Amino acid sequence: MTRKAKRGLSAPFLINQAVDRLRAGGVVAFPTETVYGLGADARNETAIKRVFEVKRRPADHPLIVHVADEAQAEDWAAEISETARRLMAHFWPGPLTLVLPARGDVPRAITGGQDSVALRVPSHPVALALLNAFDGGLAAPSANRFGAVSPTEAWHVRASLGGQVDLVLDGGPCRYGLESTIVSLLDERPRVLRPGALPLAALRQVLGEEGVEYGDPSAPSPRVPGTLPGHYAPVTPLEVHALENLIPRAEALLAQGLRVAVLRGNRSLRGKPTLPPLPQFLLPTRPEEYARCLYGRLRELDRFAFDRLLVEAPPDEDVWWAVNDRLTRASAGSRREARP
Ligand code: TXA
Ligand code: MG
Repeated sequence: MTRKAKRGLSAPFLINQAVDRLRAGGVVAFPTETVYGLGADARNETAIKRVFEVKRRPADHPLIVHVADEAQAEDWAAEISETARRLMAHFWPGPLTLVLPARGDVPRAITGGQDSVALRVPSHPVALALLNAFDGGLAAPSANRFGAVSPTEAWHVRASLGGQVDLVLDGGPCRYGLESTIVSLLDERPRVLRPGALPLAALRQVLGEEGVEYGDPSAPSPRVPGTLPGHYAPVTPLEVHALENLIPRAEALLAQGLRVAVLRGNRSLRGKPTLPPLPQFLLPTRPEEYARCLYGRLRELDRFAFDRLLVEAPPDEDVWWAVNDRLTRASAGSRREARP
C-alpha cells in the first residue's frame, strides 16, 4: 500500500479519536493554516481550564473560538453586522479572526470575562474535518507555552507540550506560519488588533482605504496577550537592527567574547558594508515565505544556544507589518531575560 493510501485510511480514524477526546474534555493539538492550535471544547469550562494550565496562560486572557462555518458563528456572536458578514464572505475559511459581541451563554472563561468573543473559521483541511466532525466550537490558542514562539509543525507541539496534550494531529507544516489577523468589529469602524497572516491590503480591498483602523487604543492591553510587548519570544535573546547598525553591534558583542549569530533575508550584500565573520542564517526574501519560515528557524536556532541573535530588520512596509510586529515583540521579550 502506498504511503498516501495509508494516510487516507488513518486520517478519518484519527479525526474520530480526536473528537472522542474532545467530547471527554480533553485537549487536542491540530494544524491550522496559520499555526498549530491547542483545541478544547469551547462549551466545557473544565476543558478550557486545562488549556490555560497546559499553556500556563493567565486566566483573564481570552481565547479564539474556531467554528466550521459562518452558520456556526451564530451560536457564539450576539450580533453579526453587515460588515462582519462581508468579511466572513471574503475571508472565511481563512486567517482572519473577528471579535464580535458575545451571546450571553458564551462561557466567560473563553472571553476573559469580556462581553465579546473572537471567532474564526480556519482553512486547513484537517482543522475543518475536525470542526465538522466535532460539530461545535473549539477554543484554540496557539499550542505553545504562554509567551513562546508559536508551533508551525506538529513536532514543535510535541517538543514543547508533549505529554500534556491528549493527541497531536499532524497536518504538516503550516502554510502561513504566523497567527491570524485579528479585527475587532465592536466599534463603528473595524479595527486591526493584531496584524497577521491575512495581509492589510486584502482587508483594505474589502473595507476601503479609510474603512480600517489600526491598533488597540489602550495597547499594550493585557486583554490581547498577543499584543503585549514581549510575546512570541524565542529562548535566545534577539535584537533587530538595520544592517548599518547591526554590524557595529555585532562587533561590540564579539569583542565581549559572546557567541553571536545573524539572521537575515537572503538578499545580496554586494555594495553593502561587510559583516564580521560569524554564523549567518538566511530566511527567504519574500514576506510570505519569510513569515512561513520564521518561527521554525527561531526554534532551530535556540538549539545552538547562541548568546545573541542579531536579526536584520525587514523593510518598514505594510507587507512586512505582521513579521515586523512579531520580531519587535520577540526582541522585547528576550530583552527581559537577556544575558549580559
Ligand atoms: O492563527 C491564530 O489565530 C491561532 C490559530 C491556532 O488559530 N490562534 C492564536 O490564538 O493565535 P492565541 O490564543 O495564541 O491568540 C489569540 C488572540 C489573543 O491575543 C487574544 O487576546 C485575542 O486573540 N482575543 C481573543 N478573544 C478576544 C476578544 N474577545 N477581544 C480581543 N482579543 C481577543
Ligand atoms: Mg499565541
